[in-house]
Amino acid sequence: MFVSLRMKASLSILICFSLTWAHTRTSERPNCNGCNKDLSCDCAAKNLRHIPIVPANVLFLDVSFNEIESISQTDLTTYMELRTLKLQENKLSMIHQEAFDSQNKLEELDLSFNKLENISSLWFSKLRSLKHLNILGNRYTTLGSVALFQFLENPVLRTLQFGNPFIKDIKQNMLRNIIQLDELTFVGGNLRSYETGSFQTAYPIRAVSVSFQELFQENLALVSKILRDVSHPDTSLTIRDISFKSMKPIQTLNEVKEGCTRRISFQNCSTTDEGVTLLLKVLDGSPLSYIGIEDVRLLGRGFWPPQWTHYENLHTIFLRNIEIQGFFRFSSMLQLVFLLKHLTKISVINCTVFVIPCITTYFLQKVEYLDLSQNLLSDITMQESLCNGDSQMHNLNTLIVSHNSLKSLDLVSHLVSSLRKLTVLDVSHNDFLKMPQVCRWPASLRFLNLSATKLHHVTPCIPQSLTTLDLSQNFLTAFQLDLPHLVELWLTGNRFISLPDGGWFPSLQMLFIERNTLNMFNKSDLTAFRSLQFLEAGQNNFVCSCEFLEFFKGHVDRLITLRDGHHSYTCDSPFSLRGLTIDDAQLSVFDCHMILIVSLICSGIVVVLIAIGVICYKFHVLWYLQMTVAWLKAKGKPGVRNAGATLRYDAFVSYSQHDAEWVEEILVPELESSDPPLALCLHMRDFLPGRWIVDNIIESIESSYRTLFVLSENFVMSEWCRYELNFSHFRIIDENNDSAVLILLEPIAKETIPKRFCKLRKIMNSRTYLEWPQDEERQEEFWHNLRAALKREDC
Ligand SMILES: *[C@@H]1O[C@H](CO)[C@@H](O)[C@H](O)[C@H]1NC(C)=O
Ligand SMILES: *[C@@H]1O[C@H](CO)[C@@H](O)[C@H](O)[C@H]1NC(C)=O
Ligand SMILES: *[C@@H]1O[C@H](CO)[C@@H](O)[C@H](O)[C@H]1NC(C)=O
Ligand SMILES: *[C@@H]1O[C@H](CO)[C@@H](O)[C@H](O)[C@H]1NC(C)=O
Ligand SMILES: *[C@@H]1O[C@H](CO)[C@@H](O)[C@H](O)[C@H]1NC(C)=O
Repeated sequence: MFVSLRMKASLSILICFSLTWAHTRTSERPNCNGCNKDLSCDCAAKNLRHIPIVPANVLFLDVSFNEIESISQTDLTTYMELRTLKLQENKLSMIHQEAFDSQNKLEELDLSFNKLENISSLWFSKLRSLKHLNILGNRYTTLGSVALFQFLENPVLRTLQFGNPFIKDIKQNMLRNIIQLDELTFVGGNLRSYETGSFQTAYPIRAVSVSFQELFQENLALVSKILRDVSHPDTSLTIRDISFKSMKPIQTLNEVKEGCTRRISFQNCSTTDEGVTLLLKVLDGSPLSYIGIEDVRLLGRGFWPPQWTHYENLHTIFLRNIEIQGFFRFSSMLQLVFLLKHLTKISVINCTVFVIPCITTYFLQKVEYLDLSQNLLSDITMQESLCNGDSQMHNLNTLIVSHNSLKSLDLVSHLVSSLRKLTVLDVSHNDFLKMPQVCRWPASLRFLNLSATKLHHVTPCIPQSLTTLDLSQNFLTAFQLDLPHLVELWLTGNRFISLPDGGWFPSLQMLFIERNTLNMFNKSDLTAFRSLQFLEAGQNNFVCSCEFLEFFKGHVDRLITLRDGHHSYTCDSPFSLRGLTIDDAQLSVFDCHMILIVSLICSGIVVVLIAIGVICYKFHVLWYLQMTVAWLKAKGKPGVRNAGATLRYDAFVSYSQHDAEWVEEILVPELESSDPPLALCLHMRDFLPGRWIVDNIIESIESSYRTLFVLSENFVMSEWCRYELNFSHFRIIDENNDSAVLILLEPIAKETIPKRFCKLRKIMNSRTYLEWPQDEERQEEFWHNLRAALKREDC
């Protein structure tokens, strides 16, 4: 007793302790329920003030856009498997020196746009796997007094983004230890000092992006210093957020030429005709092979005097999102022929291009790749741009005119039919609406993109030479075309309810048919495609029948690879399974084998009924039931033969119709004529007509002193049952009652008496019965015995 009390006390103390412990822990550390099966936790923008509690084996943790101010020594200790940690856009001002010490598998760390004043190399001292670090936009003012990765022997960092409006100086040590970077991004408009060599690693960095902002106008020496460090033939350079209009700043780009930079991009810039002219002049004679210009505002009309001609290496021009003031006055660019004639790859995307004059395209004879997507080309201007089907761009193999305003596929096919090398044609996102029956295409065409062109039907316009055909995001319901070489078919976002017949595409290896209304597919649908290896058919309206579930879970992976993963396949019906992935959906055995089960149950019932019938027949169950009822009735009744009743007869004779002759001609005369004569009751003679026979018998028995049974086989088989059933409660046939007298008219073997007539058997066992002798000598004795048996005792 004492012991158990003590145990209880300590138990409750323990519980209290653990409760308060849990309480203080959780009040500090919120929970995050944004974690999924792949151990990826999205806890972004949830007003969290601390690192939340997530599964210990989490791989990806996003806690960006919260209110976290600090990270303690232990906040992250349990998450030893982390690969990605996103902490950007919080209010971090304090990170414990050992906060990341258990994250030696971390590959990506984003600390950008917090309030960190110092970046400590101690944080990174254990991050042996860190590949991507982003510390843009904090409040640190200097970097590089010590190497960021001074404590790591062999940092594997690939990308680094840093810089903010407050950074004033950058010191040489910054990247020490790092052998090579893939990407370095720097933002810093207010830099005041830069130590030469700070942006250099042992091997040239593959891509450098520098955002100079005001610095580009204000501190040319510093800009030159930086550009000198990052200009290298193997470094792709991006210069961001500047405005180049005047000569002096533009001249700093001389460093780029000196460094033999081959790839240069300008992003988020603004310029003028004069600025472009100056730029071309400064870069003239450089080995540039690629110029990219993105998000640039051009204040001018494209008048760039052709004074410089040394751009022999320039092969690729990439222009995107160029806002041209007064673009409709833009010139034909004929003056840029010196530039154009070497180009092989031109992209002019979202630049309000509405036409390329036919005459200009004469100088584009080397062009192999031309991307004019997201512009204003129409049927008419396209006709001009491809010189009415007689274009001189004989080397063109890729033409992309998606997101324009083309309306006639017939015209497009006519215009490109003379481009003998054209293999790729992308005319997606135009408004064709319908397809002509016949088209003319260059025989070289292999790739045709007709995605989002509002098509309802396909026709033999589609050339047989294709290996890739994209018809996604149209209104197609069927697809039957003989395409013997087709390898890739995109039908995403259409209205198919079943897979197209694979027999038409003997070479098809990849089929993309997500976001249609497919109900199901089965083995024969898939094997009809003789070469199919990859299928993407998620996000359809699958009807999860038993066959489909069985096929999908058990067999589909043996036939093909579902590239979009099993999790994209969900049930649309039946209603009970809607939204479940097919892998999780379960149908009961009953759902799946309803007909079989119902027929089994029915036949079971029939069998049981038959069995019951057979058993009843065999074992006379009905008989026993009736017996039981009779017995129960008898229990409730008093002994019937009441003493006061007048007994009119000496004996009631009960016999079978077959034995009537013996009874009427021998028994009755013998007994009724004896001295004294006995009064016998015979149902043939004495029953009141019109009454129910059972009542008659009862009354006869009640008014008779004895009951005389004339037993014969016939009687036993036909009459006895009535007595056991209806009259057993009179007790006349009880073994202890001697009111019954039995005459055995013929020998009856006891075994032949049915077992259920147990009373009869009992009486015959317990009582002597009179046997009717066949020889006449003994008959006298029989009559004597019978009379004695029937004699009333009271007289
Ligand atoms: C950052 O470093 C400076 C100078 O080393 C120091 O004065 C300052 O207190 C540090 N700030 C924090 C938050 O550690
Ligand atoms: C583009 O540059 C301007 C300054 O030149 C800057 O204010 C702006 O934030 C930049 N935009 C982007 C998207 O970087
Ligand atoms: C196209 O360029 C304009 C600027 O010229 C830009 O505002 C717009 O967002 C761009 N559109 C797309 C789809 O990139
Ligand atoms: C076809 O064009 C669309 C839109 O321009 C693009 O998204 C899709 O990737 C292209 N198809 C293929 C197979 O490249
Ligand atoms: C497979 O499904 C198609 C309809 O998609 C049906 O016509 C075909 O009879 C099915 N084959 C089998 C073996 O169930």
